[in-house]
Amino acid sequence: MIPGDKSISHRSLIMGALAVGETTVTGLLEGDDVLRTASAMRALGATVERRPATGEPATWHVWGPGINGLSEPEDVLDMGNSGTGARLVAGLLSAYRFTSVLTGDASLRRRPMDRVIKPLSQTGATFTSRAGGRLPMTIVGGPLPMPLAYDSPIASAQVKSAVLLAGLHMPGITTVTEPSASRDHTERMFKHFGVKVECGPIAPGSSVYKVSIVGQPELTGRRIVVPGDPSSAAFPLVAALLVPGSEITLKNVGLNPLRTGLFDTLIEMGADITFANRREEAGEPVADLIVKASHLKGVKVPASRAPSMIDEYPILAVAAACAEGETRMEGLAELKVKESDRLSAMAIGLQACGVDARAEGETLIVRGNGKPPKGNATIAVNLDHRIAMSFLVLGLVAEQPITIDDEASIATSFPNFIQLMTDLGSAILRSNRP
Ligand code: S3P
Repeated sequence: MIPGDKSISHRSLIMGALAVGETTVTGLLEGDDVLRTASAMRALGATVERRPATGEPATWHVWGPGINGLSEPEDVLDMGNSGTGARLVAGLLSAYRFTSVLTGDASLRRRPMDRVIKPLSQTGATFTSRAGGRLPMTIVGGPLPMPLAYDSPIASAQVKSAVLLAGLHMPGITTVTEPSASRDHTERMFKHFGVKVECGPIAPGSSVYKVSIVGQPELTGRRIVVPGDPSSAAFPLVAALLVPGSEITLKNVGLNPLRTGLFDTLIEMGADITFANRREEAGEPVADLIVKASHLKGVKVPASRAPSMIDEYPILAVAAACAEGETRMEGLAELKVKESDRLSAMAIGLQACGVDARAEGETLIVRGNGKPPKGNATIAVNLDHRIAMSFLVLGLVAEQPITIDDEASIATSFPNFIQLMTDLGSAILRSNRP
């Protein structure tokens, strides 16, 4: 089973904490990233329970103190590896007068927070961070919180959502624009909870996207069904495309149109993917994906597609390494500030596996010859789950094994990855596990 969508899981817990009464969540991703957000919500005064405590199927129950009802956490909030958790919670905390401190693991402490500090400071909140807007960071909300109108220079759902979560606490209308639409799970979930939301292109035919919300609604608990994460489905999906003779069905995969750039790209490359049983769950489109091994050809992936597949470039680069011809992926500046610098991690890692790959500025170029590469390399994962899973998938088809130096990060987004891949017939060997 594909684990629950990470983006939607974070948001379901946060919105549950901002609603009065009971919110129930099924399909929640029980990965480290999301469990950190659950702990943060508890530390801020929400009740968050898994029932049953162990075993399946699990329903998560959240009882929130409501908007403007959160209380000062007694300790530092450690968001682990999660940029989404850190930035969304920073948005929330910027609306509260109390003092809170956010930190994270070595990867998260390297990532830029100035992208949320800048807009959120305009509400009157004060941020004290390490140089360059790095965690740990202290947040104190302003005395008279102000709604915001923010023109974001980047298409980032984390930035957009941080501002919108702050805006939920403010009187009046909060507006965000971004140069092109990033994933809209926050907007969809706000609507699901009854928040007044207006969103869409700023003018007909424009790529610029605008969202406005009306602050201080009274939210009551809702039922949330989290679909499978298309970003996680991407790994077994690409494995099935590459391993000759494969045919798999991935059930219940979220197909939000702002998340499906990888599927579009793979289909352009010649992938045999069928979308069956299309339906809608709690405001999000979902389908079952039937995937058959395919001969792939290199394509050009335009920069305009990046927001809809930003987390999928590492695994696309693996597909490209086995495809025939050149795949050119443009507009990847944001890849450099993910859990690791994924642009150079993929170029360097693929080269080590014998692939003709290079990064040129914000472009990743991978040239394959229609068959899997040599392999026979050890890849430094640098606390990045998607780098770890991408190279394990490449290892399934490479002539010689590929080793990753650390599997622990996989649990942030896909705790059952190794089990699922093993059940599908992969030989993933573990050694020297602590
Ligand atoms: C996410 C947004 C994306 C993505 C991340 C999850 C979210 O980041 O990379 O894994 O849940 O909002 P940006 O939109 O900030 O680039």
